[in-house]
Amino acid sequence: MAIERTLSIIKPDAVAKNVIGEIVSRFEKSGLKVVEMQLKQLTKEEAEGFYAEHKERPFFADLVGFMISGPVVVQALEGENAILTNRELMGATNPKEAAAGTIRADFAESIDANAVHGSDSAESAAREIAYFFSK
Ligand code: PPS
Repeated sequence: MAIERTLSIIKPDAVAKNVIGEIVSRFEKSGLKVVEMQLKQLTKEEAEGFYAEHKERPFFADLVGFMISGPVVVQALEGENAILTNRELMGATNPKEAAAGTIRADFAESIDANAVHGSDSAESAAREIAYFFSK
């Protein structure tokens, strides 16, 4: 299996709930290593740029508004099969459909306040990590 990197964001709802440590602990227990990490208040422009591929979707303004409603924790995670491992730990986008024991099942309230973001492909991971962590 390949060593990969993926981008994770702990979203404002989970930061407000004080579960940063519990979420990071799940990553670490699954063999993922935090190789970059920043607590950050996104600007509207940063959030719009990050989610640019969704700009025509009806929920775009709500998604951006939610992502700037409080600080987030942006991380690059590294490990074997990191992209899929992180997606499995997160669970389905809609927490009502997320499998028991996943981060979204345990900590998320709704499809818009859904606790975490994770890159969905190698291409997204490379772009998203560079978006926040290119020096
Ligand atoms: S897709 O088609 O798979 O890319 O779309 P999806 O993963 O379902 O959603 C992309 C991101 O948009 C968020 N989302 C929403 N936000 C607000 N309101 C509604 N209704 C809504 N539906 C989806 C969803 O949480 C995804 O955010 P990220 O950060 O990528 O997980």
